[in-house]
Amino acid sequence: MSAVGIDAIEIWTGKLELDLPNTFAPAKNEDPEKYTKGLGLQTSSFPDTYEDIVTMGANAAKRLMDRKDLMPDDIGRIDVATESAFDNSKPVSTYIAGCLERVHDGDFHHANKGERKFACVSGTQSIDDAYNWIRAGRHRGRSALVIATDTALYARGDPGEATQGAGAVAMLISEDPSLVELSNEQGYGSADETDFLKPNQQFPSVDGKRSMQVYLARMREAVEDFESVAWDMQPEDFAYIPFHTPFPGMVRKAGLLGYRHTIRDTEVEDELAEQIGRQPREAEYDDWEAYEEAIRAYMDQLKDTDEYLDWYDRVIEPTLDISRRVGNWYTGSVHVARASALKHALETDRSLAGEKLLIGSYGSGAQAEIHAETVQDGWREEIEALSIDEQLERRYDISYEEYEKVHDAHNHDMDREVEEFTQPEGEFVHAGWGRMNERK
Ligand code: HMG
Repeated sequence: MSAVGIDAIEIWTGKLELDLPNTFAPAKNEDPEKYTKGLGLQTSSFPDTYEDIVTMGANAAKRLMDRKDLMPDDIGRIDVATESAFDNSKPVSTYIAGCLERVHDGDFHHANKGERKFACVSGTQSIDDAYNWIRAGRHRGRSALVIATDTALYARGDPGEATQGAGAVAMLISEDPSLVELSNEQGYGSADETDFLKPNQQFPSVDGKRSMQVYLARMREAVEDFESVAWDMQPEDFAYIPFHTPFPGMVRKAGLLGYRHTIRDTEVEDELAEQIGRQPREAEYDDWEAYEEAIRAYMDQLKDTDEYLDWYDRVIEPTLDISRRVGNWYTGSVHVARASALKHALETDRSLAGEKLLIGSYGSGAQAEIHAETVQDGWREEIEALSIDEQLERRYDISYEEYEKVHDAHNHDMDREVEEFTQPEGEFVHAGWGRMNERK
């Protein structure tokens, strides 16, 4: 069978922006550098009071269908990944399909629709489902639409408040993709965790510090699992490594995991072998813990070396450009990081076709997935078509008082009369929960 992967991508940002160092930090009486240097954020995207997960997802998907000249008949599957759903029965994909049917000829009556849930990793899981559906030959030549859409809001006063964001990423999964081919090599790290959860509540209950440790632990397990199917890979094999980015400071800590493959270097392996008394690959189970300890100590020493810092600047830093300006988009976050990396390649006129990306997805609760992708010949045209810079520039910069109003409105209180800060421009807008969204 021919290659299967992501053919096209569209990003829709919430239309408001909150300036963290200049608006949020003074209101919270905090040092702005905590946000810019510590968390690595400048602004976050917020949904206006007529935007929600359905409108943002439908607007991203409409743009993608228009650009790729697609009709509903071309789509055999629509999966929405979200952790901001408002309906426990009807999947968000049906609401979005309803919007799209109102502006395209035809309908999605023969498309399989669903909603995927596993915190932020469900965007990647939906891509995996689409990949498997196509690979199994059940797609009848059609493509799958995957939409990751979230309003990532925290209760006011929660430490997570600084990392909020809102937006949607629509992705078309097809045979012979233009953007990236997915490989069947994957690694997982998964365990029952309770550091971040939303049991029947709008805002998450979070143990922020622990959530960072859980992210790193699961991601490390996923990398180890990935190594078992891709033993000979080295850090320089990957042009970029986009990680799930709740805030760039988290990726600064995770970056080292992308460098772990240096332990494959024979000299390093010998050094580690000396520490545990035998070659790692011959290690018995009991030695394994000691070997892992030795790796951790070795990696810890690496993190301040020029060699590592140079690698980080080339391979990880470019994945964070958009995230710094939009905050956490939960399910869309790692896909924004991939787009950011490819945009960087375009802006630096880098030739990328045939090069590999290593994608580190993560969802609280908790599961990490590592997989590799190969950039395809059509990547440049696909990334040139993105309008994310314009969208970011056009956001309305809210004051702290306006932020409080918007935050209240999105606390499932959108059906009362609320002020709007921008004008809809030929897009789907919220018309009341459970009702069809209008186009204005
Ligand atoms: P906090 O506790 O308020 O912040 O919130 P802090 O005091 O730890 O400071 C943050 C960083 O800024 C630290 O850097 C400080 O040193 C630094 P670090 O030491 O960690 O490298 N800092 C400064 N730097 C320069 N100048 C200053 C200054 N002050 C401090 N003046 C916390 C941080 C992450 C706890 C909070 O934002 C939070 O709870 N966030 C939500 C949870 C989260 O994002 N967790 C991340 C991992 S879990 C995940 O990614 C999954 C998720 O996306 C959900 C899902 O999967 O569905 C969240």
